[in-house]
Amino acid sequence: MQTLFRLLLLIATAMVSRASLAQQDSIFIYSPNERQGLHAAALDSSGWHHLGQLCSSDYGTWGAEKRMYHPSLCRAKDGSWRLVFQVNDRSPLLAAAYSRDLVTWRPQDYPLVATPNCLKPVVQPIDNGFNIYYKSGDSAHRLFASSDFRQFSKSMPMPLADESLWQRQTAMVDGQRMEGQKFAIADQELAHIKDFFAQRAEDGRLSSERMHDDSRNLASLPQTLSATLHVDMNNQKPISDQLIGIFFEDISYAADGGLYAELIQNRDFEYSAKDRREWTATTAWQSRRPIEIATDNPLHPNNPHYALLWPNDTLWNEGWDGIAVEAGQKYDFSMYVLGGGQKQTFSIQLIGSDGTLLASSQLKTKGTDWKQYATVLTAKATEKKARLAIIPQKAAHVGVDMISLFPQETFKNRKNGLRKDLAQVIADLKPKFVRFPGGCMSHGQGLDNIYHWQHTIGSLQERKPDFNIWNYHQTRGLGFYEYFLFCEDIGAEPLPVLAAGVPCQNSVANAQGIGGQQGGIPMEEMPAYIDELCNLIDWANADPATNEWARRRAEAGHPAPFNLKYLGIGNEDIIGTVFEERYEMIARALRERHPEIKVCGTVGPFHTPSADYLEGWEFTRRHPELQYMTDEHYYESTGWFLHHRDYYDNYPRQNVDGTPATKVYLGEWAASTHVKRPNLETALAEALYLTDVERNGDIVEMTSYAPMLCKDGHHNWDPDMIYFSNTDVRTTPAYEVQRLFSVYGGDRYVSSQLTLERPELKHRVGASLVADSKTGKKYLKLVNALPSTLQLSVSGITLPPTAACEQLVGNGIEDQKAKAEVITTNSLTTLPPYSIRVVAL
Ligand code: AHR
Repeated sequence: MQTLFRLLLLIATAMVSRASLAQQDSIFIYSPNERQGLHAAALDSSGWHHLGQLCSSDYGTWGAEKRMYHPSLCRAKDGSWRLVFQVNDRSPLLAAAYSRDLVTWRPQDYPLVATPNCLKPVVQPIDNGFNIYYKSGDSAHRLFASSDFRQFSKSMPMPLADESLWQRQTAMVDGQRMEGQKFAIADQELAHIKDFFAQRAEDGRLSSERMHDDSRNLASLPQTLSATLHVDMNNQKPISDQLIGIFFEDISYAADGGLYAELIQNRDFEYSAKDRREWTATTAWQSRRPIEIATDNPLHPNNPHYALLWPNDTLWNEGWDGIAVEAGQKYDFSMYVLGGGQKQTFSIQLIGSDGTLLASSQLKTKGTDWKQYATVLTAKATEKKARLAIIPQKAAHVGVDMISLFPQETFKNRKNGLRKDLAQVIADLKPKFVRFPGGCMSHGQGLDNIYHWQHTIGSLQERKPDFNIWNYHQTRGLGFYEYFLFCEDIGAEPLPVLAAGVPCQNSVANAQGIGGQQGGIPMEEMPAYIDELCNLIDWANADPATNEWARRRAEAGHPAPFNLKYLGIGNEDIIGTVFEERYEMIARALRERHPEIKVCGTVGPFHTPSADYLEGWEFTRRHPELQYMTDEHYYESTGWFLHHRDYYDNYPRQNVDGTPATKVYLGEWAASTHVKRPNLETALAEALYLTDVERNGDIVEMTSYAPMLCKDGHHNWDPDMIYFSNTDVRTTPAYEVQRLFSVYGGDRYVSSQLTLERPELKHRVGASLVADSKTGKKYLKLVNALPSTLQLSVSGITLPPTAACEQLVGNGIEDQKAKAEVITTNSLTTLPPYSIRVVAL
């Protein structure tokens, strides 16, 4: 009895001390400075110690913004957290965020306030939500937030504000005095937070693994390692036959100056400082006197600027870093002329960098109104940096616009077509789909720069040029009609991705000082935006006899439908309330008006456990009916890919109601090292990951490496899959991997088990067997990312003693030029160090 009493006393004491522990401040939340976001420190017997970063500001553009001032946190009755902070001292908004556990956060919202700025916001719980107090100038203001922290009232001035609201606590964190807030949290909550940081650190450690360091870390590995591959032919599952496609964005001069074969830069005189600070309507043009630009009586209101050519004056165009021409090739020249009524003759010439005349032709014009004239130039010699000259032969004073020069040889010889060599290299990938026009270019730099597909069709002069978020210009000569034709030409499904009613979250502030998503397209304009998206479907698929948009497609030369099946809505947006409201409106309308279209949603720019990824998938699971698949993006280190090979293994295959789960579109991904160029190391990491993607091809529907194209001297982003100049195209090991997995894709996955003699290195080897039920072919892919030869013994399938296969080995893991080669081998299962092998069975 006495023992029992003692035990009860002990438990009671423990409970009291636990309760008092929970009363005692155990976590300190603070921001070391505005660039570093929100941090936590924990208390131990020696004082406060830094734990890690909880979150950071996602507001506005990189560089000037992404700052967090004066964070204020409070706890709701259910234990969840609310955070507000100031983003700068010039925007009429604050940042608001929600967390259940302090370490994972819902994406930030940026509610607007009625004052020109919003300083030192403070949040406090009240019965049915939260009060937020802030300062603007000398006055204090208040607004109300709903308990889910998604709805915010208008802000009102507060004549009598209690100044103690703005008092902060301080703590010495690892010897440094910080301002912030202290909270008492339960032991298990603190343990969860510590656990999170420990896992993050471990993940960081694993992700820093580099094959580059193998000579040091794996020096003791034997020259040959053995492994067994057991194939279970009886265990197969259907997988997507659309797994490998391409991501096309006009980034790094991928379109204008790149794939789009136009050789004249600024052909429409529409360059301006909006494109790039130093650019004007005459950029890329030269003359002996200042070029006069006119805007009265333009060729088309969407292209208001044109040049006035004075008597005896020559107009030169430098092309895109010069005009590359090839001996014997023919080039279509055309221009619109606004004449004074008299006959004119122009000499149209291509001049080499040393002044040599490479091609010449006469262009005769007559007329008073805008009219297009054309001639053909044949190059006498090959030259990398020619210039175009337009030389009036008689005294002329005319307006000129839309001055164009195209090689006659374009991909599939299409007019207004694509560069043949580049397009062919892309076609050789045999991509199953083409995503376009971006990337960030789809959602644009601010509301006014959202990509409107209908501005990119019709005659070239009626298309609306715009600035490019990547700091140059979009002519839209490569517009939706050309994208769809290209898809058709290469047998790929078109996958247009358009904005979800919000621009890029990294947008600079508009005239009202509102940056980031800028509040999204105003709600009253959303119905028109939704119509615009539906019009695209009609333009692509409807009958020209009954539909106005389809009639425009037919007029452009394509009466048959394009058979559009997929439509992406949103590009790695902040999955905040502004996004979710608009996405839902769009997706519901598409479902109602075009149930035949497979809608693709988005879950932000990063993988788990980023705020957008978590909220994006939560939204997706809440509304499975609103998307067929969703777009994931992650650019990561080779080590990350090596250590996350099970990423998709546990994705649910079904929704709670038993319907098939939303599929994954891994829309932007690439492995990189500090070298920032694809090499054999990144290729091996990508190949390994793709063997895992194939294993998960029942939930992963599509993938596309990004970005695809990059022109020398115009890099917005590295690494890229294909680098090019005006005259050459250089594929990379990343290209080889994409090609191997695309060309040798299947629609059934055959289960297999790979076991390595050294199990701790199993993340460095991969195998995948797929079957194509249409052809009956099977493709076995084997990846050895180890510095040792891999000796495989295979069971469950009979491999031929001698076989032809494609093999990517290269010259060491730093090799940036490695190409796969067809070899015939009688040791199919002996894989050289750092190699990828694909065999057709
Ligand atoms: O692929 C380059 C860019 O990366 C894309 O435009 C954007 O979506 C992502 O951040």
